[in-house]
Amino acid sequence: MPTGLEGIDSLTLSRFVLQMQQMSAEATGDLTILMNALQISCKVVETCVRRAGIAKLYGLAGSGNVQGEDQKKLDIIANDAFKENLEDCGRVSVMVSEEDDEAIVCSKATTHKYAIAFDPLDGSSNIDANVSIGTIFAIYRLDDSSVSKTPAEGAKAIMQTGRNIVVAGYAMYGSATNLVLSFGEGVHGFTLDPSIGEFVLTHPGIQIPKTGKIYSVNEGNAANWDKATTKYVENSKYPEVGKAKSLRYIGSMVADVHRTLLYGGIFMYPADAKSPTGKLRLLYEAAPMAYLMEAAGGKATTGEIDILDIVPDSIHQRVPVYMGSSEDIDAIVSLYQSQ
Ligand code: AHG
Ligand code: MN
Ligand code: MN
Ligand code: MN
Repeated sequence: MPTGLEGIDSLTLSRFVLQMQQMSAEATGDLTILMNALQISCKVVETCVRRAGIAKLYGLAGSGNVQGEDQKKLDIIANDAFKENLEDCGRVSVMVSEEDDEAIVCSKATTHKYAIAFDPLDGSSNIDANVSIGTIFAIYRLDDSSVSKTPAEGAKAIMQTGRNIVVAGYAMYGSATNLVLSFGEGVHGFTLDPSIGEFVLTHPGIQIPKTGKIYSVNEGNAANWDKATTKYVENSKYPEVGKAKSLRYIGSMVADVHRTLLYGGIFMYPADAKSPTGKLRLLYEAAPMAYLMEAAGGKATTGEIDILDIVPDSIHQRVPVYMGSSEDIDAIVSLYQSQ
């Protein structure tokens, strides 16, 4: 009979990160301090998300961002929380946020080894309906022999392929608050235990199934899809052999990717006639999620190239996204190869 104390003795994220640090001889503790700032930011945002209805934090902020989106109040609150904590920890040299036009060169940085790209609040259109939303982040290693002094230099320093990511992950503010991340070796999921204020390990070594019964895409864009996407979705609905796949689409990338990682299947945000390079941003949505997918045994592609191989040409660059179970991704890639 569960006692309700389960999880108290599990590995906390704080201890997990310290153990990761102790495993490398040349560790300085900088990444541990950075990860701690990230964790605190996620806890601050999750509190704001949970209290949004009570504290009147729903609705629009009355401002727009570089993406051409109307910012929600929680977009701004989340963005400010991450920027403040990541700046104050002194271990971030350059930051890129979905909500800021330019890269940010951190004036309080005492070391210049790390840059971070983040989507402070992903799934903003779902906030007011209390549907799962989240935060996505990717930490890149910098050459600290040359310190960025301007936003342009900072942008240049962080625009690396996803293969250079050091840590990537997401927080999901759902019925529970999850933090799923990878340092490159395996993907591990933690759940916030509010009774002790710590993220505890609940999903060690996530491995995505080789194939899944779910496809996830906004079918409202079907009129604008290319042939490969149209064919893939048709095959999912009317398979020549076997059962049709189910459609599940939440509209928060974090939630759709989390379900895909755990259950298998495919998540897609294709390019289409309306958005010729797709909607999702490479640096702080597609690349970090692709990094997790590959670390969990899955794949992530634009249809033509692995997402982790793309060299960014701007900090808010958008790319087409297909990610998930390896066999399902192979199927869409072969449709692209034959089109
Ligand atoms: P964000 O809220 O950070 O701007 O991201 C929204 C993204 C992503 O979360 C989701 O997969 C996609 O937008 C949904 O787009 P549609 O509403 O066009 O389907
Ligand atoms: Mn997003
Ligand atoms: Mn966002
Ligand atoms: Mn947005």
